[in-house]
Amino acid sequence: MARFFNFFSQEIAIDLGTSNTLIICDGEIVVDEPSIIAIDKQTNAVMAVGKKAMLMHEKTHQKIQTIRPLKDGVIADFDATERMMQGLIEMIPNRKKLFRNMRMIICIPSGITEVEKRAVFDSAEHVGSRETYLIHEPMAAALGIGLDVTEPVGNMIIDIGGGTTEIAVIALAGIVCDQSIRTAGDEFTNDIVNYMRRQHNLLIGERTGEQIKINVGAALHELVNPPEDYAVHGRDLMTGIPKQITVSYSEISHCLDKSISKIEEAILKALESTPPELAADIYRTGLYLTGGGAMLRGLDKRIAQKTKLPVQIAEDPLRAVVRGTGIALKNVERFSFLMSHKNM
Ligand SMILES: Nc1ncnc2c1ncn2[C@@H]1O[C@H](COP(=O)(O)OP(=O)(O)O)[C@@H](O)[C@H]1O
Ligand SMILES: [Mg+2]
Repeated sequence: MARFFNFFSQEIAIDLGTSNTLIICDGEIVVDEPSIIAIDKQTNAVMAVGKKAMLMHEKTHQKIQTIRPLKDGVIADFDATERMMQGLIEMIPNRKKLFRNMRMIICIPSGITEVEKRAVFDSAEHVGSRETYLIHEPMAAALGIGLDVTEPVGNMIIDIGGGTTEIAVIALAGIVCDQSIRTAGDEFTNDIVNYMRRQHNLLIGERTGEQIKINVGAALHELVNPPEDYAVHGRDLMTGIPKQITVSYSEISHCLDKSISKIEEAILKALESTPPELAADIYRTGLYLTGGGAMLRGLDKRIAQKTKLPVQIAEDPLRAVVRGTGIALKNVERFSFLMSHKNM
């Protein structure tokens, strides 16, 4: 029966992230695109999704609108989310279009409400899924990191994405405690945009802010391997003319301080609410960082200093969650208790 199903159907795993959506099909990551859609406001037609839409972001005119439908860690726009999913699924190479008989696993933020969950199930059905599973992000991250989530051993996973940071303790195939805060990569970018305006009278957009973060962002004021200073182009607030200034990592690290402290506080709170036996496990195993935010220079070291626990960054942190979702897909029967399920 299983083989029969495989022959006529397509199985895909989706990490529906606030910043990036990734899709695994036949064991390979076949789609890796920013979670964004561009819409023609006059006709309401989809103009582009993913990278193409991102190129238009903040460069649109009255007739085009770009939407990041999951921006703040919740599904802010159901319709746009569904159309984006549709567009991204269409990017899968060699899609078996004849067999609109898909089995889908979608990884969702753990703070998602029941209403949002239902909306994701509905969207999956509308884009052709016959059988849909939802898995919570920290669980998928743990699978992707290679942890055995069914063991009676506690592990703490900290997933720093675009919209949210999710901190979870996992043991015996369940999420024991869970903290979700709206401070993550997007907030870091915001801090930088605001800082450039305040300190340098320089207006920059979200994309430039993100480039600064990736090139010279840091969680520590002093780094052992510092990046080179970075040239930033924007518009002078006083003269209105484009100008260039150079920023250093230590300057940027100061403007990120507050947001990083918020993440540290949430981690400490999660550790406080961890049952003592699991806390003892975590003392040994340490903390696992994943998500794009985990790549901020020195963040692992800073969290290690604050918690006095060992901190490990997952391999390829932007892809750990989708890898885990793919593992769940391959072992649906074995891991079914980790997921919500709906047969259409
Ligand atoms: N090298 C980097 N340094 C710091 N932040 C990064 C880096 N690369 C990506 N990011 C940030 O990671 C976030 C996206 O991470 P991701 O795990 O894909 O989020 P989500 O799961 O919410 O889609 C974005 O805010 C992005 O700017
Ligand atoms: Mg994610």
